[in-house]
Amino acid sequence: MMERAVAGTKIRMMKGDITRIPVDVMVNAANSDLVGGGGVDGAIHRAGGPAIMLELNRIRPKNGCPTGGAVVTTAGDLPAKFVVHAVGPVWRGGRFQEDLDLASAYATSLDLACARGARTVSFPSISTGAYGYPVHKAAGVALSAVAGFLESRPGCLAGVFFVLFDEDTLKAYQKALAGLGSGGGSP
Ligand code: APR
Repeated sequence: MMERAVAGTKIRMMKGDITRIPVDVMVNAANSDLVGGGGVDGAIHRAGGPAIMLELNRIRPKNGCPTGGAVVTTAGDLPAKFVVHAVGPVWRGGRFQEDLDLASAYATSLDLACARGARTVSFPSISTGAYGYPVHKAAGVALSAVAGFLESRPGCLAGVFFVLFDEDTLKAYQKALAGLGSGGGSP
């Protein structure tokens, strides 16, 4: 585990299954159709139960959720109050605003979490699984986006947890957290 405070909010890195960590808002790495899938999306729907998809079916925007955007649902049976379904970019080589879209997915998620009164939020490594975003680049973008949000909204959140599934991903995010503010946190 590794932790650092930014504008009074703890950013903590941990290895594990995000569905097992109690939090106010759990962020999902969803697709724009919001129809579920594999990876962390599958795990969240499995552990949360059918209430999450039932609500998605009610609130799903006609053309889906745009890349970089997010929607909020109940957390069903998960140890959370809400799930934020964030849509990260598919990696297409880095020249298609993937960094801006990824940063937007994080900032939009935090904005929605604060609007629901959350004090703690957990993130998986958005876009670095099926969507193919290189994890070292993604970690830098994620940490810059989260730190930028926290600096612009001090006091809004008590803790932001990155719950990372494997050792390489954990190491990449720990490195990005250590580099924050020294130029190492940028993409
Ligand atoms: N807890 C935490 N992290 C997890 C879990 C879990 N239970 N399960 C998988 N992960 C990790 C993966 O190992 C990867 O590091 O989450 C990261 C993101 O991988 P994906 O879930 O594949 O997400 P993403 O790359 O954003 O692709 C999204 O995949 O499942 C579909 O519906 C989803 O179409 C969407 C796409």
